[in-house]
Amino acid sequence: MTLDEHTSVLPQVDAFGAPIPHQVQRPDAPSLLPDVRDPFVGPASAGPLAELEARNVSAWFGDRLVLDRVSLTMPAGGITALIGPSGCGKSTFLRILNRMHELVPSAQLAGEVLLDGEDIYSPERKLTDARRSIGMVFQKPNPFPAMSIGDNVLAGLKLTGTKASREERDDLIESCLRKAGLWNEVKDRLDAPGGGLSGGQQQRLCIARSLAIKPKVLLMDEPCSALDPTSTRVIEETMLELAAEVTIVIVTHNMQQAARVSDECAFFLASHGTPGVIVEHGDTRAMFDNPQDQRTSDYVNGRFG
Ligand SMILES: Nc1ncnc2c1ncn2[C@@H]1O[C@H](COP(=O)(O)OP(=O)(O)O)[C@@H](O)[C@H]1O
Ligand SMILES: [Mg+2]
Repeated sequence: MTLDEHTSVLPQVDAFGAPIPHQVQRPDAPSLLPDVRDPFVGPASAGPLAELEARNVSAWFGDRLVLDRVSLTMPAGGITALIGPSGCGKSTFLRILNRMHELVPSAQLAGEVLLDGEDIYSPERKLTDARRSIGMVFQKPNPFPAMSIGDNVLAGLKLTGTKASREERDDLIESCLRKAGLWNEVKDRLDAPGGGLSGGQQQRLCIARSLAIKPKVLLMDEPCSALDPTSTRVIEETMLELAAEVTIVIVTHNMQQAARVSDECAFFLASHGTPGVIVEHGDTRAMFDNPQDQRTSDYVNGRFG
């Protein structure tokens, strides 16, 4: 099967669970899509927790600057929450952290993103390396609906050509579903289609799929905004457990959620048509209880946004 056939069968997401852009690339343009036929060379994550650092990251869509020299350190093994009103560039910033921004045809960026001190944008680095080490979970759960629950977990490995024995695959399915807090609910129906699960279960399935390629960082863009409060709490508990082995960055509009799960917070703002910047960041407790900037205080107390 060719890559084109893959994308027509699976139109929504690529091997890493990332949406496939709808735009057709110019035939002469260098391909920025991950080469999913690349042989997979072992797990990206081996052991120690990784720090992610953005340095002077700027982003444009066409001529429009939407993020202006944003710098943020996301500590290893911590949960960092990105908060701020709609349109201030949180999702754009998140997409820059795993090289998804560059897939948008008019998009440009500047700055550096260092994973344990190494720039994921350096010329020697491949886009697929960034995707393997930095996973992403989206607002709307996007499992492959017709694929079985078990195969959904393995989807990233399958499309990267990883060879694993039946036993290794079964172990991986179980361990990822356990980590995602879904195992007990699906262990008796691993062959059932992923699309048959509830929204909250589908989101945990997507988390399990991300974990299967052993990322060092997990990015989550409003992962609970389409979910009911009970599913939301389950995902939050899952996040708190996962932080022991993966660095987490979450965008949320839910201030209680930011307060419950995150160690550190960054408040993004794009006021009056200016590009997004980080107004304030630091320890979550301090940001909520004793913000240094009036705009942070207004936002975390629900006075705007
Ligand atoms: N694909 C795109 N093309 C053009 N402009 C975009 C695109 N995606 C986002 N933008 C613009 O970039 C700005 C930041 O958007 P976004 O990162 O989605 O903000 P947030 O996630 O904080 O709501 C917004 O003004 C938005 O309209
Ligand atoms: Mg967004």
